Amino acid sequence: MRGASLTNSSANGTAPIAFLDSGVGGLPYLKWTRGLLPAENYIYLADRKHFPYGPKQPEEIFQAVAECVSVFLKKFDPKLFVLACNTASVFALEKLRAEFPRKTFVGTVPAIKPAAEASRVKKIGVLATAGTLHAAYLDNLIERFAPGCAVVRLPGPDIVNFVEKRLFTAQPGEKRLIIAEAAARFREEAVDTVVLACTHFLYLLDEIHSALGEGVRLIDSREGVGRRVAEILSSENRQGAGEKTGSAKMYLSGGWPPEPQYEFFAGFFGIEAAGLL
Ligand code: DGL
Repeated sequence: MRGASLTNSSANGTAPIAFLDSGVGGLPYLKWTRGLLPAENYIYLADRKHFPYGPKQPEEIFQAVAECVSVFLKKFDPKLFVLACNTASVFALEKLRAEFPRKTFVGTVPAIKPAAEASRVKKIGVLATAGTLHAAYLDNLIERFAPGCAVVRLPGPDIVNFVEKRLFTAQPGEKRLIIAEAAARFREEAVDTVVLACTHFLYLLDEIHSALGEGVRLIDSREGVGRRVAEILSSENRQGAGEKTGSAKMYLSGGWPPEPQYEFFAGFFGIEAAGLL
């Protein structure tokens, strides 16, 4: 059991909320939560050392995320962790809760329930990493929340890499190309709702939306995650105090030198690029 000897200092309202992802995918989630809870302090870790999580075995994903949690715990003792990554959440969330029993974890779970509710034709698409698509966790969500729906599952490995490495340098048109195959398959299958079940895909929301057409609704879990964080902090009376805006810092794992795009991502979200951990 890791983290058991920590004091209670993270119960303090000013302790940061930590967001973790294999890369930049969790930043849109941090943004949404920060909009809801602007007085909080935020730290973000892009686990560039272990990127990508999608093709890894469950145990490797757990070890990677547990390492990130341990490093953040020692350095910042956050009051709450958000796994802003579907792959990490479906494979590591339960084990992390067991491993760090004094910490609170909020996971990012594929938004199957709202998608099944929104679908009129009862046919939904799920776009996720290969890992998430094959997880028993996803099967259970579908069984529980979408029993009457046909579900078309598609992976987007090139999309994850594209977003992480080339989003700001790609030629116009490449964004459309990178999502074209998945969009064509969803159109063929005539789904009317698609779950973006990998946080990286949110960067291509507009392109996916126009490739799928007006009639197809896109669903992700930013709002669910942000509201869950707010609910936990308020029920435990651990909200950040004051009227002023809190800080937000983005850290990277892995070796020197960090690739320049991470500074761009931080700047794009109005977050301080705080360098390597
Ligand atoms: N952003 C991650 C997710 O939500 C995973 C991307 C990856 O590292 O493969 O699933």
